[in-house]
Amino acid sequence: MEHITGQAVTDYLRRTLRPETGRLHEMEEYARENYIPIIQREAGRFLSVLVAMLKPKRILEMGTAIGYSALLMANACEAQITTVERDEEMFCQAIENISACGMKDRIRLLHGDAETEVRNLPGGFDFIFIDAAKGQSPVHFALALEKLAPGGVIVTDNVLYRGTVAGEGEVGHKHRTIITRLREFLDMLCKDERFDTAILPIGDGMAITKVKESKETEKCL
Ligand SMILES: C[S@@+](CC[C@H](N)C(=O)[O-])C[C@H]1O[C@@H](n2cnc3c(N)ncnc32)[C@H](O)[C@@H]1O
Repeated sequence: MEHITGQAVTDYLRRTLRPETGRLHEMEEYARENYIPIIQREAGRFLSVLVAMLKPKRILEMGTAIGYSALLMANACEAQITTVERDEEMFCQAIENISACGMKDRIRLLHGDAETEVRNLPGGFDFIFIDAAKGQSPVHFALALEKLAPGGVIVTDNVLYRGTVAGEGEVGHKHRTIITRLREFLDMLCKDERFDTAILPIGDGMAITKVKESKETEKCL
């Protein structure tokens, strides 16, 4: 994976941040060896600190993989977490990891496509982490909005897609659609008066969106 902040900065951050230990560390190693795209360490730390500060009660995650980011969030706050994964092998590994960490009561795992599964869930999540397929992020964001509690926060990962979203050069055919979608998505997040969005060049790029309560939106229109 290319580093959008430059290799030297990324290496420095990884050397400097306190490393994860125990099962989380083993999961990092496993993911590295098996090319499983779990959240990058510096982005994971940001996510942990963010939920520790916001203290959400109910978190929804789209894209569990092996359960690494769900466990990071569970360790950092007291929320009940619901997380959705469509790949069966990943889903089974996530169950194992979450059980091994004694987090079965805190993390509910759903197996299936995020769009279908989330549509069937009741709303009221105060923090939603979107980390499934990048090309689907705009659709997942629209769905997240329906399930978000008033004033909640949505974090979307991988929005800068290895730096390609910001690049001005020619984009290969293979990635063109996804990059165009992500550019339009970020444009929408930044222009829509219902949200306040910050985009951080951390990990693979993270968008943090605070959805205003309707009274706040009226004030700024
Ligand atoms: C980037 S990984 C998630 C990493 C995880 N959040 C972490 O940091 O530990 C993306 C995961 O989303 C899953 N996925 C992709 N599209 C999905 C969809 N539409 N519904 C559910 N899961 C999906 C993939 O199978 C993959 O395991």
